[in-house]
Amino acid sequence: NATRVPFVVANWKINKLHADVADFLDKVNGKVPAQNIVETGIAAQDLFLADMVRATADSPIHIVAENVHWEDSGAYTGETSPKALKDIGAKYVLIGHFERRKFFNETDSTVNLKVTAALRNGLRPIIDVDEDMSTYAQFMDAEPSVAQVAAALAGVSVDQIRNVTLAYEPTWAIGSGEAASAVQAQKAAHLIRQTLAKLYSPVIAEQVRVLYGGSVTPENAREIMLQKDIDGVLVGTSALDPEKFLQLVAIAQ
Ligand code: G3P
Repeated sequence: NATRVPFVVANWKINKLHADVADFLDKVNGKVPAQNIVETGIAAQDLFLADMVRATADSPIHIVAENVHWEDSGAYTGETSPKALKDIGAKYVLIGHFERRKFFNETDSTVNLKVTAALRNGLRPIIDVDEDMSTYAQFMDAEPSVAQVAAALAGVSVDQIRNVTLAYEPTWAIGSGEAASAVQAQKAAHLIRQTLAKLYSPVIAEQVRVLYGGSVTPENAREIMLQKDIDGVLVGTSALDPEKFLQLVAIAQ
């Protein structure tokens, strides 16, 4: 799509130690295209982020946090402030990943608080949505949750929505080795875009990026990224490998 720059985001979750992070960045630095061709991001544990920002100072790779708190400061032991993430040079933040919803009790309302906190602090949220539970019984054909999209974006202005990326990750595809088909992923991305058109406008819906995540590999990424409403991929397992990450970025070009 001419108006939306493709976006490839690695989500390392809590994999990799300090030395692995440095090694990965050494291997990919200087090999990713300019951000007007393909935007690239790497999401990692908070404790590596400042080092990663320094290590990518001369690279177009953006550093992505995997979570954020909804208050800028205060007595919230163990949390990370959006203001501090911005301060160290993080550019994006994943919000509402299925693993956060499942293991850490994130709800539509905490997701929304985090989205607005990120935007207020100049961070760009990558909002994860999974399936609509009412269609979950149909399993492989489940649709993305329109309710999750709407709830996450409550109070997000027309100006702010341009800084938001949405990502559909069907729960059954995460880490399973079984990605959605390109047709399923396109259908889901299209529904998300229709939701954006209703919440904002058709013009805005065409400007917001929608990613697919769940068992993306260099083998299946091309067909997925060729789909009209899909602007890129959010990748766990495959993106732990620098060579595969670079292949995915090349495919997105
Ligand atoms: O956020 C991306 C992630 O949940 C997908 O993981 O391992 O299926 O690529 P994976």
